[in-house]
Amino acid sequence: MTRPKTKILVDGGDAQETKRVKELLGFVDGQTTNPSLIARNPHIRELIAAGHKLSGKEEMDEYKKIVQTISPLVSDAGVSIEVFSDQGTTAQEMFDQGREMFSWIPNAYIKYPCTAEGLRAAQMSVSHGIRVNMTLCFSQQQAAAVYAATKGTKEPAYVSPFVGRLDDIGQNGMDVVKNIKRMFSKSDGHVLVLAASIRSLEHLLYCFQLETELATVPAKILEQWASQKFLMPDEHFQYKASGKPIAYQELDLERPWEAFDVQHDLTRKGIDKFASDYRATLSRTA
Ligand code: E4P
Repeated sequence: MTRPKTKILVDGGDAQETKRVKELLGFVDGQTTNPSLIARNPHIRELIAAGHKLSGKEEMDEYKKIVQTISPLVSDAGVSIEVFSDQGTTAQEMFDQGREMFSWIPNAYIKYPCTAEGLRAAQMSVSHGIRVNMTLCFSQQQAAAVYAATKGTKEPAYVSPFVGRLDDIGQNGMDVVKNIKRMFSKSDGHVLVLAASIRSLEHLLYCFQLETELATVPAKILEQWASQKFLMPDEHFQYKASGKPIAYQELDLERPWEAFDVQHDLTRKGIDKFASDYRATLSRTA
């Protein structure tokens, strides 16, 4: 297989699945997790089915065990661990969780949402040497804010544009990835694009063509890729978008992050969904 330039991360919350993918591909560059994926981890589901009561602390301990099992399976793209947040969580609260989670494994990236509080937490994190992955990104403006908030970081920061969720609302999610890549082509390179919410092999092939630095991909799409003999896009590959195009914006990356419009309805909804999946796990057992 010709290794793509794009690093491949497994989008999941189960070490057994990561192991299977690694056997299939021969490598796994990294892993991303989120509260919904952790709630679907087989062991957590078993605990719940058996009527175990998980406190918030126990849930964190389970999350820690999961990422500690995954950590040695992946190479240099690391394991992304997401803080638990809702609309009221402050930057300081996110940062406190992030700092604790960062100590769990040597190759952690801490996921904060692309909101004003999340950006503040990221700013605090990079100044403490904590690697970040800014999640729930749906716009070029949010990516520009990530760039501004993480300036001066010693290690690359990730920004995760969510393709599939934009497609779901009738927009061309891959346009956001393309636009962010274009915007960052004139940057100092400290933010890497991690394409997320990948739902099809076409999404993945287009990431390869755009040379996104990273892509996080569900196991079933990686299995499809393997079944197609690790197909790569040739010069004739054209991504067929179904949704409405999203136009490129000229943005000045030298502005402070507060100057960018970081509001996005899907970011708000995404936070609500992660929070409710996390709480559902707890409340079903409480
Ligand atoms: C990864 O970092 C994201 O949390 C994940 O790709 C979201 O995917 P989804 O939109 O399919 O839930």
